[in-house]
Amino acid sequence: MATLSAAVREPAPLLPGRLRNTRQFISEPIGFFTAATARRGDVFRFQLVNATLVGLTHPRHIKRVLQDRQANFVRDTQMYDIIEPFVGRGLATIADHDRWRRNRRIAQPAFDHKKLDTLAEIMASEVSALCDEWAGHARAGRQVDLVEQMSLLTLRIVVRSLFGLEPNGPEVAGFAHAAKQANAELGRFVRMPLVPLSVPTPSHRRFWRAIRDMDAIVYGVINRLRDTDSEGLLSMFMRAADPDTDERMTDRELRDEVVTMLFAGHETSSSALTSALLLLQAHPDVRERLRADVDATLGGRPATAADLPALPFGRQVLEEVLRLRPPAWMGQRSAVADDEIGGYLVPAGTTVMYSYYHAHRNPECWERPEDFNPNRFADKTVARDRNIYLPFGAGGHLCIGQAFAMMEMQLALAAITARFEVTIPDPDYTPMSALTLNAKYPVLATLTERAG
Ligand code: HEM
Repeated sequence: MATLSAAVREPAPLLPGRLRNTRQFISEPIGFFTAATARRGDVFRFQLVNATLVGLTHPRHIKRVLQDRQANFVRDTQMYDIIEPFVGRGLATIADHDRWRRNRRIAQPAFDHKKLDTLAEIMASEVSALCDEWAGHARAGRQVDLVEQMSLLTLRIVVRSLFGLEPNGPEVAGFAHAAKQANAELGRFVRMPLVPLSVPTPSHRRFWRAIRDMDAIVYGVINRLRDTDSEGLLSMFMRAADPDTDERMTDRELRDEVVTMLFAGHETSSSALTSALLLLQAHPDVRERLRADVDATLGGRPATAADLPALPFGRQVLEEVLRLRPPAWMGQRSAVADDEIGGYLVPAGTTVMYSYYHAHRNPECWERPEDFNPNRFADKTVARDRNIYLPFGAGGHLCIGQAFAMMEMQLALAAITARFEVTIPDPDYTPMSALTLNAKYPVLATLTERAG
């Protein structure tokens, strides 16, 4: 193609060994990317049993794919086919550019800054409800599993603030259960997509049962909200008509948007909050500083959105968590036409897989990259520099929920810090990296209410 210079003829260095690569990639994709980068550099090709992919671990190359050359790198890879039965084709997965743009425009107002201020009240009240439940656990001396607790918190926030649903109702509990089950089975399949999902293995049967349960709930909500004048995101999607054809979204499209939003909007933030509590446990100096800030600003009362500008260190802690443990740790795109990355030829049809996890550890971009050091983000421009920092992606598909997520996470971290001493007796972190980065095992914590 015209933009390629004649010098760009070489493909990226190859990591041969389909079987060995596949085994390593399936069991530990992050470790596989680390080893591949060490051996072949930050642009490499790797063979798997069913494909040869290009791997990218430098932020500059990732930005090229997502932003500078975004029209040539589309969301049409096997990963999207694999997750389609679960999330369908919603905002985060739609490959068709026009349909994606229409839906993004419809959804955008639900995430506007003005709207977020009202949503902050819902977030704060859900955080406060969680802290009240935790006070009960603390008094009874019961441990909690932070993975489960953070997941429930962020799910409640998203269902209430985006869809106006009652967070303690049976729909939310039913959805959480089905989504967790579907996600677990899908995680198994993503790591080993050799037997098609249509083959009724016990795991695949569990997966389809969970999808049926989840769909029954979502379609039920769609029907219930159809004739109301609710202001939520689902109603915005229902009311929107295509400006050219006047067509409305089908029930299937609505279902896909709801499931996408619930999934993209809760697994990610909950993973980051769990990581934050684990990293604070391992870094008492950072925890002390955060606590001092929170105590001085809030003096024992619950945090609101208006307090957040006075709590910059809490934001910095979360930004550093998102650097070291980016919940959406990787992504994939497919090249439409021949392209060039880092001086190498990327032929049309190639699947490119990039890792934010590795990009965020690049020693050219970060001093002592493995250290947990929230002071890196004292300068606010660092978090906006997409040449080095990409936890929410880049380009047109930049996370629509970025401000939403930062707000809910800051509120949650401030409230938890203010009210509890969280002790994690076994803070070893084993990542489980399928679609999102999560702790592999429960993270059990003891809670003590702080005096005040
Ligand atoms: C810490 C929390 C979060 C992280 C790290 C995160 C990360 C990301 C990333 C990396 C992308 C880009 C995907 C791509 O390029 O294909 C993305 C897209 C998206 N995120 Fe988030 N996200 C978070 C929270 C949320 C929340 C709270 C919501 C909704 C309530 C949300 C909804 C979405 C949606 C709908 C997209 C697709 C956007 C589009 O393609 O137009 N995310 N997110």
